[in-house]
Amino acid sequence: MAKSRSVFTCQNCGAASPRWQGKCEACGDWNTLVEEIEGGAPALRVGRGRVLELEGLAGDAKPAARIVAGMDEFDRVTGGGFVPGSVLLLGGEPGIGKSTLLIQVCATLARRGERVIYISGEEAVDQVRLRAGRLGLADAAVDLASATQVEDILATLKSGKPAALIVIDSIQTMHTDLAPAAPGTVTQVRASAHALLRHAKGSGATIILVGHVTKDGQIAGPRVVEHMVDAVLSFEGDAAHHFRMLRASKNRFGATGEIGVFEMTGLGLAEVANPSALFLAGRDASAPGAAVFAGMEGQRPMLVEIQALVAPTALGTPRRAVVGFDQNRLSMILAVLEAHGGLKLGMHDVYLNVAGGLRADEPAADLAAAAALVSSLSGAVLPPDQTFFGEIGLSGAVRPVIHAGMRLREAAKLGFHQAVLAQAQQINDDERRAGLALRPCADVGQLVAAIAQTAKPKQG
Ligand code: TYD
Ligand code: MG
Repeated sequence: MAKSRSVFTCQNCGAASPRWQGKCEACGDWNTLVEEIEGGAPALRVGRGRVLELEGLAGDAKPAARIVAGMDEFDRVTGGGFVPGSVLLLGGEPGIGKSTLLIQVCATLARRGERVIYISGEEAVDQVRLRAGRLGLADAAVDLASATQVEDILATLKSGKPAALIVIDSIQTMHTDLAPAAPGTVTQVRASAHALLRHAKGSGATIILVGHVTKDGQIAGPRVVEHMVDAVLSFEGDAAHHFRMLRASKNRFGATGEIGVFEMTGLGLAEVANPSALFLAGRDASAPGAAVFAGMEGQRPMLVEIQALVAPTALGTPRRAVVGFDQNRLSMILAVLEAHGGLKLGMHDVYLNVAGGLRADEPAADLAAAAALVSSLSGAVLPPDQTFFGEIGLSGAVRPVIHAGMRLREAAKLGFHQAVLAQAQQINDDERRAGLALRPCADVGQLVAAIAQTAKPKQG
């Protein structure tokens, strides 16, 4: 007879401890340990197992057949459609648009004749219907239910025509009789996810589990679920801006660098096939302090504007503020510009902003940030058809970065004619064919001199 004992499980990372503690020793979070009853493990039955047939690495593995969702930006991230029997976890902050995205995916797939089931544990059926109606999706044959009991859900899934896609919104609201713990705990989430996973593997349906994310960007509680699922997607964006990005941080059936870009409109999420055009829209190229960075989001080139404002300070200690850029990188760039570029910034406030609510986290953004800073300080407007990419080292040298070809081609596509890049950047003939005039730059001293020379001074 299995004995049950009580364990204290961290609701953040899932680590178990035999006694209650204020702080989880595994992840360091406070007040996350909750008492849960764990059934004792049955005794190991060595000798009663079946001998497995072992195989070699060679053999003809068929590429997984996929069900295309029919939304290009979504299919791109999953690696070309859903793999039957796979389970995906879609994480994102509350209100970012997970339910909206998934109801749109469900409707698109249902219109292509597949059976699609949407189980909401958070909203009543009427609420889901109301939203679908507003999005113009009411005619799609999606099977809806509002439920949180996993046993009920599994019984429903097993009845009727097998579904191609099942959405569980959200995994945190699910509970199962298999686990004795209270609803919402890690044990419940793990047991519920496990039961659903077994259904997916057994039936060949694709299941998408929705997971809420905490402020620091982790999928709350069900970090433990991340190990079990085939793909972890996150839906990100800034509540103040309209664009949303879907990214895969784990994908057993595709690359993880791909991202999908959407825009939240009054009619739900619209796909953005050309994100650079969206981020550069409304750019004022006639003002100093703005430089266009030829950046990369995963495997996708994306042009964004980096804006700087350098102004004399009224305070004893000048301010340095960033939006969408790393504070430490800004400090480093300022120090390098002072030490090797001859700039005097000690008596200036410095603000740096990445337009459109994007983040420029790549080191390749250094050169564009430096150009924006120099332009703002000197009042010299940068040529509107110029883009920048390159990393700046502490010695002041501009260093090459990866994906130069993709950056150049994207810039050419959007009508740019010049690219400022590291002198040591290797450009092959194919990349040269993008047709941009290359302006190699060895160090920040050259950058400062070049801006002083080519930029036309601000009017008035
Ligand atoms: P929702 O999908 O409910 O977010 P989540 O499931 O991630 O919590 O999206 C909610 C937000 O999206 C809500 O604040 C309003 C906005 N929204 C639109 O702007 N346009 C729309 O067409 C819809 C359906 C929602
Ligand atoms: Mg929701």
